[in-house]
Amino acid sequence: MDHFIYKDGVLHAEDVSITDIARSVGTPFYVYSAATLRRHYQVFDEALAGMDHLICYAMKANSNLAVVKLMGDLGAGADVVSGGEYRRALAAGIPGDRIVFSGVGKTRDEMRLALENGIRQFNVESEPELLALNEVAMSMDTVAPVTIRVNPDVDAKTHAKIATGKSENKFGIPIARAREVYAEIRGLPGVKAVGIDVHIGSQLTDLAPFRAAYEKVADLTHGLREDGHEIIRLDLGGGLGIPYETSNQAPPLPLEYGQVIRETVGDLGCEIEIEPGRLIAGNAGLMVSSVIYLKHGEGRDFLILDSAMNDLVRPSMYDAHHDIVPVIEAAPGVEQAPHDIVGPVCETGDTFAKQRNLPPLGAGDLVAFRSAGAYGAVMASEYNSRPLIPEVLVDGDHFAVIRARPTYEEMLARDTIPEWL
Ligand code: LLP
Repeated sequence: MDHFIYKDGVLHAEDVSITDIARSVGTPFYVYSAATLRRHYQVFDEALAGMDHLICYAMKANSNLAVVKLMGDLGAGADVVSGGEYRRALAAGIPGDRIVFSGVGKTRDEMRLALENGIRQFNVESEPELLALNEVAMSMDTVAPVTIRVNPDVDAKTHAKIATGKSENKFGIPIARAREVYAEIRGLPGVKAVGIDVHIGSQLTDLAPFRAAYEKVADLTHGLREDGHEIIRLDLGGGLGIPYETSNQAPPLPLEYGQVIRETVGDLGCEIEIEPGRLIAGNAGLMVSSVIYLKHGEGRDFLILDSAMNDLVRPSMYDAHHDIVPVIEAAPGVEQAPHDIVGPVCETGDTFAKQRNLPPLGAGDLVAFRSAGAYGAVMASEYNSRPLIPEVLVDGDHFAVIRARPTYEEMLARDTIPEWL
């Protein structure tokens, strides 16, 4: 569910018309709906009601400080994967004891930063990382709380680039080896095991892989407890998918996902953590662009937009589908025609959609990409020297720019020409 609807024929974010925002900030831009973000947090919270739980928002989906603060104010924790995200979480007001640190390549500097400022747990992904963390913590006279991210060898049945739970993926420690690694932790004074972590992939549209993975985690919990470990916490990762195509069948609801959690690990007496990103932010955001040209090609029409693959890379990177809709609703009965929707970047891959039906549009008209709130702005680059596009947050009837569009001067000022050149 989202709060982007047509009112009097104009697409609105909550009570603000997209055309008003476009007039004020120019195009292209991202716009997020605070009500939608809050609602998505709440559906997870309701899905886990009755269980001791913490929703650690996966900041990689959308790490704008305003978005993270909004999450933190609701009580969310954060799942971070870099020193940058850790700093953002703190800056947005999320305390260290609500931050979990994931990622296969944590550096010693990042470990130190988190140990100095507070951390709920490190989700450790390899033995070399465990040894490094032990050393860093000992050098600081402290003990780092850890989980081991286990790789359950479960097929998440999602796009190959975002599946993480198969043994051939770089993530986690094979679950079959987990007991050995937990035994090793016992001999390391700088680390203390507090639980188990698992994350099998993103944009999952079937609950069966979650169930399979969580059953394995439940078995491992019993095994580790037999070995004498105190397992108080299970981090079950993120990954629940969202509907990208309004015409397609919707993925399972958070409530159904919560039921799987209840059934698999609900009776273990553990604190439950989940790390959703996409489901919270994805359908809470649009990317809005203007048409630059309508170009009649040979046998097809191209709609050339002012946004490009550098602004929203998902279609060219994962062949991802985003619904693209006109901001001014077409009058009933207006005929739609197929268009290739492309950006101005000099690559054929800079194609958002092929042969997508749209009503007649021309230069200056606005279109909106739906489901662009997650893995949109955060994955943007300045390729072709195109400045990053601004981000706007709507809350009810007002909006604010939450990241300004940089000027060309600011963009150029980051480079230096050495004096000897
Ligand atoms: N936790 C961990 C350890 C993760 O690696 C991820 C996502 C999440 C949580 C959040 O998963 P979510 O609930 O958002 O599915 N750029 C890709 C998605 C990459 C996801 C990477 N990991 C895309 O645009 O589809």
